[in-house]
Amino acid sequence: MSAPATPHQELDQIAGAVADVATADAGRLAELRTAYLGRKSGRLTQILRSLGEVPPAERRELGRRANEVKRALEDAISARESELARAERGARDLDLTMPGRPVWRGVLHPVQAVVDEICDIFKEIGFTRVGGPEAETEDYNFTKLNMPLDHPAADEHDTFYLRPGVLLRTHTSPMQARVMERHQPPIRIVVPGRVYRRDSFDPSHSPVFEQIEGLAVDEGVSFVDFKAGIDFFVRRFFSTDTVVRFRPSFFPFTEPSAEVDVQCQICRGSGCPTCKQTGFLEIMGAGMVHPAVFENCGIDSERYTGYAFGMGPDRITMLRHGIPDIRLLYESDMRFLAQFEEGR
Ligand code: DAH
Repeated sequence: MSAPATPHQELDQIAGAVADVATADAGRLAELRTAYLGRKSGRLTQILRSLGEVPPAERRELGRRANEVKRALEDAISARESELARAERGARDLDLTMPGRPVWRGVLHPVQAVVDEICDIFKEIGFTRVGGPEAETEDYNFTKLNMPLDHPAADEHDTFYLRPGVLLRTHTSPMQARVMERHQPPIRIVVPGRVYRRDSFDPSHSPVFEQIEGLAVDEGVSFVDFKAGIDFFVRRFFSTDTVVRFRPSFFPFTEPSAEVDVQCQICRGSGCPTCKQTGFLEIMGAGMVHPAVFENCGIDSERYTGYAFGMGPDRITMLRHGIPDIRLLYESDMRFLAQFEEGR
């Protein structure tokens, strides 16, 4: 670019540069500002500074034009600056076309929902929900419950021992002893919690599973109260027309003992693979508390009687939802768990 011959020609050229400003980025804008308006060697600055050397006849007109071009350039630069600043702010602020972030709404694990529901039903007839330790002593897990240590269930093959005398509870029944040692009757408790057994992991077994223990002790509690309590639960949890069956059984901590069956919820009693064609499904072990257990826990077995039960909420959850494999309940697979809306 050859140097313009006169200041007027140079002003023409600078006025032409005003158009460049409109498309300049921030870096180019700074360059233009320095080149034309820079305080030392900006070309406009120099023209204005040298006005004194211009013949008086031309000075006025040249000064007017130089100031006009300067103002136009300054205005264009500051307009472009605020335009760039606005664009940058806009990019940072809000893009209404952006998809929203997914909101993860937590739901109760299906077994927990069933546990809560069962405990709530027993609450209606006066039972309090309590928890207890998963690491237990042999004493509470077996001995106080009238299970001698040579009982098959106390065998190392069925029990996870943490160290001699201490184990992972194999059932929630030890909480019967812990509560009776500390409280005199009347007692009405339900105890949900995890229990552990050295079982294989297959469709119907898991080395960890859930139980709910129940215990009701008072003066004059009879087998009739026991049946009425269980009946109330089954009708509330399943349906009022569900048939309940009490089968004689044996547990060291109850006498007499029973296993409680309900009419199969899948075939409604006509027989199917789930109930092995029997029409019934076992939901709990139960019975009248053995006097020896009372005595082991400091409760007068002449004065008090009571009933106890232990049920498996996993089985009950599987029945309710038609879940074919217990392992699904313990694998924390979100594809499985996300299917359970609140409640059921
Ligand atoms: N503890 C037993 C088990 O794990 C279940 C059980 C049976 C609990 C009878 C009881 C009961 O309280 O009375 O197999």
